[in-house]
Amino acid sequence: MNFAVLKETEPGESRVALVPEAAKQLLAKGHKVSVEAGAGRSAFIPDSAYEQAGCVLRANADAAMSATDCVLKVRAPSISEAERLPGGTALVSYLWAARNPQLVLKLKDRKVASFAMDAIPRISRAQSMDALSSMATIAGYKAVLLAAAKLGKFMPMLTTAAGTIRPARGFIIGAGVAGLQAIATARRLGAVVEAFDTRPAVKEQVESLGAKFAAFVHEEAHAESEDKGGYAKEKSASFLAKETQFLAEKIKAADFVVTTAQIPGKKAPVLITRAMVQAMAPGSVIIDLAAESGGNCECTRADETAVENDVTIMGPTNLPSSLPLDASRMYARNVLSFLLQIVKDPSKGSDGLTLDWDDEIFRETCITMGGEIKHPKLRQ
Ligand code: NAI
Repeated sequence: MNFAVLKETEPGESRVALVPEAAKQLLAKGHKVSVEAGAGRSAFIPDSAYEQAGCVLRANADAAMSATDCVLKVRAPSISEAERLPGGTALVSYLWAARNPQLVLKLKDRKVASFAMDAIPRISRAQSMDALSSMATIAGYKAVLLAAAKLGKFMPMLTTAAGTIRPARGFIIGAGVAGLQAIATARRLGAVVEAFDTRPAVKEQVESLGAKFAAFVHEEAHAESEDKGGYAKEKSASFLAKETQFLAEKIKAADFVVTTAQIPGKKAPVLITRAMVQAMAPGSVIIDLAAESGGNCECTRADETAVENDVTIMGPTNLPSSLPLDASRMYARNVLSFLLQIVKDPSKGSDGLTLDWDDEIFRETCITMGGEIKHPKLRQ
């Protein structure tokens, strides 16, 4: 197949969908890769690195797509980008199809075979393709660095001639992929860390990273808290009200809070009220990684920094883009692994998509194909 790697157009987006190392692996199988000039520049990957890998550089997106079978991107295309996709090609990128009905209709009308990187099923066979986990890892790491840069105190304990400095105290809400990486990063910086999650299954993982798991006793706490993908199930309003009360003391005592609590497809639960923020010590920091789905803190404004009573609240929605080289490497490995699953192997004499509808990975990620909406959850 002939793949086209496009330069991202969304303001502030620094990642690129394929890095030269991943391109080499496609080329080794007998595929071809065209790259739009400058596609990797904001991720610190020069055009020359793609050329050295054996890719063909093209002056602009239209030229890169002129003979393509499959377009590779990070962000979902805008409507106008989707209009320029050659009819009948494949597209692999984030799509967030349920939130982007107009884009889905456009891709259907253009007869694009679209595959959503955000829809990779969370099964062990697909772990190497799981871009959501890769990017959540980066977000958790970067959130703690943001907190450290904003805090008016050290993270680690220090014994100096000028006296002993006590370590910062961090509280992490939601110990999924991002939360666990936030715990690990804060521990590496020497902070004392406590964490909470509604899924009791993560207690052991939290403790293995050297953090304390906050114990919350509630009759619903032991009810089934995970779906079969390992995601949290939505809790009742009365549970969330009790949880908020329980969290109040923990948050008051923390120098920094990283909050990541989300329920797929739903608005994030508000767990930190304005009053709870006001009760924190001046100079404390909250990094709200649930900002894109509404935020876990009442004061969060997506992609802005709010200050309430000398407490800083940040709601970054694209931290992976602030670490563009490794974010692109990880995303590209996920894309490569996915492509090797959904396309045939030219080195074995076959080409094109596998069209293997019995494969959960193919079925769950394919949004549109041949002028039809394929994903069952999107069909009316
Ligand atoms: P996420 O970003 O949707 O949620 C983050 C965390 O918030 C979750 O741990 C969730 O339990 C927690 N949360 C939700 N409501 C909460 C509340 N009211 N209070 C406190 N915490 C709350 O989830 P993420 O990190 O993308 O994945 C969650 C889990 O999914 C993983 O830990 C794992 O078990 C599973 N998973 C499985 C994979 C696989 O098998 N391939 C890959 C990735 C994740």
